[in-house]
Amino acid sequence: MSYHQNLLLDQERLAGFHEAIKNIKGIVFDIGAGSGILTSCAAPYADFIYSVEKDPRIASKTVLFLKKYHNVSFIERNALEIDFPVKADYILCEMLDTALIDEEQVPVLNGLLKYLKDDGKVIPHGLINCVEPVFTRSEHICYDENENPQHQTLGPYEAYSRYQFGKYIDPHANFKFKLNINKEGWFTGIRITSFTLITPDILCGPTPMMNSPLIIPTERLKVKKGDTIGVDLSYQMGGGLNTIKTRVHGI
Ligand SMILES: C[S@@+](CC[C@H](N)C(=O)[O-])C[C@H]1O[C@@H](n2cnc3c(N)ncnc32)[C@H](O)[C@@H]1O
Repeated sequence: MSYHQNLLLDQERLAGFHEAIKNIKGIVFDIGAGSGILTSCAAPYADFIYSVEKDPRIASKTVLFLKKYHNVSFIERNALEIDFPVKADYILCEMLDTALIDEEQVPVLNGLLKYLKDDGKVIPHGLINCVEPVFTRSEHICYDENENPQHQTLGPYEAYSRYQFGKYIDPHANFKFKLNINKEGWFTGIRITSFTLITPDILCGPTPMMNSPLIIPTERLKVKKGDTIGVDLSYQMGGGLNTIKTRVHGI
């Protein structure tokens, strides 16, 4: 099954977006339209939609799927290279991934802010990132997608960053955490979980096709209940998983 077919079967992801899109109106951009599913949800409510997808293999199918909507202009192009003739009341942009590291949500939305009306809105509205200390056998950064967890949790998870789309976001991310340990064992990594605010009122946790938690191995440290670990974490949002750097220090 293709990546886009799997996206369409992810009912939890789509239910949240359906709910949010029911309230849109005016001029809408769907950036990174993929299969066109969000454009098709928005078509009954919007005056006009610019639906943009840069991948020609995907776009060749999407253009056929969206042909039936008279208020949709489908554009096969990198959205950052388009001179849009109008500003948007709503920008739909679902290029999400955990902590916004591997997909281009942040650089693309930063580049399109000039096309969002002053009272315009972005769907999804934002993202909240949480981190927890773990034991993992994995030696590589990986998504925790299996039903069998690839980690053992060593302490509570805490929110470490929150973003609102529709405002400029600095893609260079630098954090210093203090993680509390409540179990004896080997600390060997951190696990990041992202929650999507589809609107300010609709919160969506990881779903099968959106934001699987990310496991990042670090240096190893023997820990016991009551310890606190310091972790420095940096990455480039939209830069890919190989931009992730960590440093661990006992406290
Ligand atoms: C996660 S898929 C989402 C598909 C669709 N929005 C959905 O919710 O089902 C992200 C899509 O964004 C497209 N994309 C990424 N960067 C883009 C850009 N700069 N301009 C246009 N499309 C882009 C990718 O090719 C991919 O198809």
